[in-house]
Amino acid sequence: MIVVLLFLMATNGKATNIVWHKSSVGKLHRQELLQQKGCVIWITGLSGSGKSTLACALCQALYSRGKLTYILDGDNVRHGLNRDLSFKAEDRAENIRRIGEVAKLFADAGLICIASVISPYRRDRDACRTLLPEGDFIEVFMDVPLQICESRDPKGLYKLARAGKIKGFTGIDDPYEPPLNCELVLPQKGNNYASPCEMAETVISFLEEKGFLQA
Ligand code: ADX
Repeated sequence: MIVVLLFLMATNGKATNIVWHKSSVGKLHRQELLQQKGCVIWITGLSGSGKSTLACALCQALYSRGKLTYILDGDNVRHGLNRDLSFKAEDRAENIRRIGEVAKLFADAGLICIASVISPYRRDRDACRTLLPEGDFIEVFMDVPLQICESRDPKGLYKLARAGKIKGFTGIDDPYEPPLNCELVLPQKGNNYASPCEMAETVISFLEEKGFLQA
């Protein structure tokens, strides 16, 4: 048993002989300082479904309540940390894995981390969920039909995908697997025209109810 534990301590993936170093200032101290609880709000959905818009509205609304957030936006992260990744399935998986790991660190820092990424594969999203303590991963599905996303086409990418100029575009010739059991589905049924601010308030009510907005 001890031998197995030592082995687990000394290996992690490809790296060997590594031991976790603990700091005297921990997550609870940081949360106390910030008067909030660290968590990850994972916004998933098609391109053009309003993920980034919701992320910004949420960030703004929480900021005005004195709460510290940080947005990890798929497009933005692909400008830096994930600039080496394409849109093929393995690279999307690696994109999500890295964002999940960074989000976990931000949550540990005590922040409300908002990840806004298509994250089309259920398996990849579920893997990120398992990185966090139970309840700290809040999956929000932007349930907007493809035809609406395509009619919005804010970046003109659907047009290019339909013209065959972008291959493997999510929703067109690449899959999107909707969540089966997520914490929130937006816009809520029967309320298709909820504004980004209204949707942000729905998320904030959830956070309040679960105690994330206090230490
Ligand atoms: S994910 O699938 O790996 O989660 P991510 O959220 O990082 O995607 O990036 C999606 C953004 O990249 C889209 O909003 C869009 O602007 C752009 N994009 C470029 N090519 C593609 C593609 N083939 N499929 C989806 N989005 C693409």
